[in-house]
Amino acid sequence: MRILGVGTATLDIINSVAIYPSEDDEVRALGQRISRGGNATNTLIVLSQLGHDCTWAGTVADDTGSHLISQDLNRFDVAMDHAVPLAGGHTPTSCVTLDLKTGSRTIVHFRDLAEYSFDNFTGVDLDRFDWIHFEGRNIPELEKMLLRVRARKGSGCSLEIEKPRAGIEQLFPMTSLLMFSRHYARVRGFEDGASLLSAVGRDVEETTVMTCTWGKRGAWLREGQGQLIHNHSHRADVVLDSLGAGDVFNAGLIHGMLEKHTKIDVLDGACRLAARKVGQSGFEGLAGTSGVC
Ligand code: FRU
Repeated sequence: MRILGVGTATLDIINSVAIYPSEDDEVRALGQRISRGGNATNTLIVLSQLGHDCTWAGTVADDTGSHLISQDLNRFDVAMDHAVPLAGGHTPTSCVTLDLKTGSRTIVHFRDLAEYSFDNFTGVDLDRFDWIHFEGRNIPELEKMLLRVRARKGSGCSLEIEKPRAGIEQLFPMTSLLMFSRHYARVRGFEDGASLLSAVGRDVEETTVMTCTWGKRGAWLREGQGQLIHNHSHRADVVLDSLGAGDVFNAGLIHGMLEKHTKIDVLDGACRLAARKVGQSGFEGLAGTSGVC
């Protein structure tokens, strides 16, 4: 299937440490890797490995960081026809500390690049895509993009809600799949995914599928105000690298929806894929080794 992902590509500088440092510590990293990151592009490279035809839409700076981004997207066969080059900014960069003991990832992100705009999005031929996935950012512009996708009908549309942002709730009725993070749920005062989905379910269409991930406690899925499904069966044996695990989970969801799996299998496949990801470093070789995905 043909998938467009709208969102960011970043440069990730990832240091692995034996124990997470305290403030004002000076510690040695046990390993370092520099790679492309960014939620939308992380999701796309996994979908590409699952056999989909993927295109990224986002902004790129004219600096050396962008070369690494395009090389990596090329390597995973993700097309950049809708990448918009911009003069004067910098590649968004994340300094990531990966704690090898817990697998947690702490991110300090620096951003100095204009966001992808509705104006950029008007150049996209929507008929070319079966599914369009958006990162929940730059809300006023995103709202216009979602209206355009909705007016056309026909393609699936997903929205990732990772961080609370002013006005983001207005977008919930505009997509067929809403992917919530634990962080968002907590900031809104919920103690688990079930209660978030119960609250949000009142404001969306009855066919809207909503999910919420919660680390070791698994993930929940609910369609409108329908039955709540919980999955906690796929824990990684070893938690090595949780960077981008949510983005991988989202790829598993989109894949399952496009393959028209049952909702139980959609959630199970996404949890399985995310568990496989946290047990390995990076995103390579995630598809096709077992089970639903
Ligand atoms: C992981 C990630 C990293 C990136 C950061 C941006 O989900 O996409 O690759 O640096 O989040 O917020």
